[in-house]
Amino acid sequence: MRVDPEFQDKGIATRFTRALFPIIRKAGRTWAGLNTLDSGKPKATFRVMEKLGMQLADIYADDVYWRRPKQVARPRLAPYQNIFAHFVGLGRKTIFHQHPGWFCSRLIPERRAWVNPGGFRLDGVPVHVVRGRYTEKGHPHGRVTVNLFDRPSDFTTFVPRLLALVPNRGHLVVNYAAEWKQEFRAAARAAIPRLKKNRGYWPSTWRIYGRTLG
Ligand SMILES: CC(C)(COP(=O)(O)OP(=O)(O)OC[C@H]1O[C@@H](n2cnc3c(N)ncnc32)[C@H](O)[C@@H]1OP(=O)(O)O)[C@@H](O)C(=O)NCCC(=O)NCCS
Repeated sequence: MRVDPEFQDKGIATRFTRALFPIIRKAGRTWAGLNTLDSGKPKATFRVMEKLGMQLADIYADDVYWRRPKQVARPRLAPYQNIFAHFVGLGRKTIFHQHPGWFCSRLIPERRAWVNPGGFRLDGVPVHVVRGRYTEKGHPHGRVTVNLFDRPSDFTTFVPRLLALVPNRGHLVVNYAAEWKQEFRAAARAAIPRLKKNRGYWPSTWRIYGRTLG
């Protein structure tokens, strides 16, 4: 969403977003969500959400990695029963997925059977992992999504193990609590030489807002 600077702060974005609610309701939905980049500073979008009565559900770091640490064995993942209940118990309201599209879905009971097959433990830490494939320039690529909501006890050992899940060709997206981003990214840079923004990874942080439609 972007309003020409000349017309900003006149209520256009608020009116535009409000006009979407009846359309969403008509489609049979009971909740509307919006994700917006978190700059760490106050932004007009955050104020627009507030004016519309949309609540902040979660703030996530959402990093894409396409290089992986050398000499780190690919971890064996052990199944984790009912990761849905575990995530809800941690106070998480949403889960990230790359397919279809690139967005967050709410952790509502109707999604339990859809979320739980992705429940695993990586070195004892619960993680939600979904693997997919896509074709780019005629070659098959792998796509791995990881939702990590338990704070690893040691980022320097855990992060390289997690990044060993980056496919040979393709990428991994890891979605985790935004408060760990410094530690997480420092561990990634330590494990992968010359890792830089757009050189092997793309870090970003997102705010998820939502509202129940009355
Ligand atoms: C975000 C954006 C679409 C909002 O459009 P808009 O039509 O100006 O929004 P509205 O007029 O409905 O509301 C803006 C509100 O934010 C406030 N605001 C403006 N800049 C702000 C800032 N830096 N921090 C906090 N609040 C701010 C305004 O005062 C206003 O609140 P008020 O009505 O209480 O005075 C517009 O600022 C924009 O195009 N920004 C650049 C692109 C962008 O960041 N898009 C979001 C990507 S998800």
